[in-house]
Amino acid sequence: MAVIIEPFKIKSVEPIPFTTRDEREERMREAGYNAFQLPASAVTFDFLTDSGTAAMSAAQWAAMLIADESYAGSRSFETFERVVKELTGFRHVIPTHQGRAAERILFSCALMAGQHVPSNSHFDTTRANIEYQGAIADDLVIAEGLDPRSPHPFKGNVDLARLELYLDEHRRHAGAHVALGMCTITNNSGGGQPVSLENLRAQSRIYRARRIPFILDACRFAENAWMIRERESGQSGRSVRDIAQEIFSLADGCTMSGKKDALVNMGGFLALDDDALAAKAKHLLILTEGFPTYGGCAARDLEAFAVGLEEGMDERYLEYRMATVRYLARGLEKLGIPTVQPPGGHAVFIDAHAFLPWIPQKQLPGQALVVALYLEGGIRSCEIGSVMFGKPGPDDGFAPAALELVRLALPRRCYTQSHVDRVLEICAEVAKKKRDLTGYQIVERPPFLPHFTARFRPLPHVAREHATPNRGIV
Ligand code: F0G
Repeated sequence: MAVIIEPFKIKSVEPIPFTTRDEREERMREAGYNAFQLPASAVTFDFLTDSGTAAMSAAQWAAMLIADESYAGSRSFETFERVVKELTGFRHVIPTHQGRAAERILFSCALMAGQHVPSNSHFDTTRANIEYQGAIADDLVIAEGLDPRSPHPFKGNVDLARLELYLDEHRRHAGAHVALGMCTITNNSGGGQPVSLENLRAQSRIYRARRIPFILDACRFAENAWMIRERESGQSGRSVRDIAQEIFSLADGCTMSGKKDALVNMGGFLALDDDALAAKAKHLLILTEGFPTYGGCAARDLEAFAVGLEEGMDERYLEYRMATVRYLARGLEKLGIPTVQPPGGHAVFIDAHAFLPWIPQKQLPGQALVVALYLEGGIRSCEIGSVMFGKPGPDDGFAPAALELVRLALPRRCYTQSHVDRVLEICAEVAKKKRDLTGYQIVERPPFLPHFTARFRPLPHVAREHATPNRGIV
């Protein structure tokens, strides 16, 4: 059969809001042109994130009811710990309220100021938590990972030659050294792109040879394992679980946000092999999250998490999910809206730089597109470009991000194909009117994670012949 269907039927529904263009203009103005500041009640298609937005299954809801909410030694923790240990093989499982809490605890225990942490691309909370410790987050993704049109099947791979040079270089300079290595699967900041098993095996060998702990940021491990099965030679006969287990066996620990591939609305964990590091992490956990058998979660969250981890690896579900992402990406490409190719796991990333080439990176083309998609049809998306990653620079005071992307992240098991068809109709209108779009300027910028709370203002229309051309993507 050619049509890939949702492998579920819908038992519980929630109406979606409808708004007029006037209402959307008013809401956007009030929000300071920042989609994070919009009330969800004014959003028709919420593609801001795939994090914590999944529809839970009947089995997950049922598990919540039988949870054991004991403060210490809860049965639900035992269930959760068993499922995580069977999957990851790590000796210590430390529940946290979400992924960034696992990051904060890990980095507080394992990093000193001035140390470095390489990865393919750090996600924004990971980078911010590393920098908060006074340490330095370095991205070593392959060059293809920064080229939105490159058809490379594993654009989340780490550049292995660069990694070895980088590690040797750091070893030569006393004082600045590499505390641990990370790898984000899938690589969210670089377009939700997978990392190949071959690349993960090589990273593991490189770190182990140098006795540097290797930690996975494993939020979307199941989608990554699925794409390994689909795209990597020699892997098609294996189950997703088997591939995932091998991935975890290559590392010394992981941070995990259950809000992605574990299909829960809240929850995360830190898993580690190192006894001393785990003991330190558990002490800090008690101080700021909670007792080690519940961390930052209610026991019912842990029950839903344990069921969700298994459901997230269901192959019919993963087949449908990847088909949805491909369908949206193909539809956008047909409208002349360039997307990161091949589409990754959890989202379609529009290349705003290529779509709106007359808006210089300094004038935030991604932000311009985020606002346009909302005004046209109530679509909420997320800029992953110079708003998120731009830095004050040396000459004109601005160093742009490598890519200017707009992410349409698909919440798991929430929207149907006709929703996506309507989204494509809205995008067609935006594409028709794109010549009218102008850039944006930040008028209020917080010191950390600016994209969440910054306020913007639209810039006046500049005659095309006077506009500064875009900087090329390196
Ligand atoms: N790492 C990656 C790769 C992520 O995508 C996220 C969250 C985190 C860590 C942090 O996890 O939200 O549970 O604290 N990503 C969300 C997103 C917010 O929209 O991509 P968290």
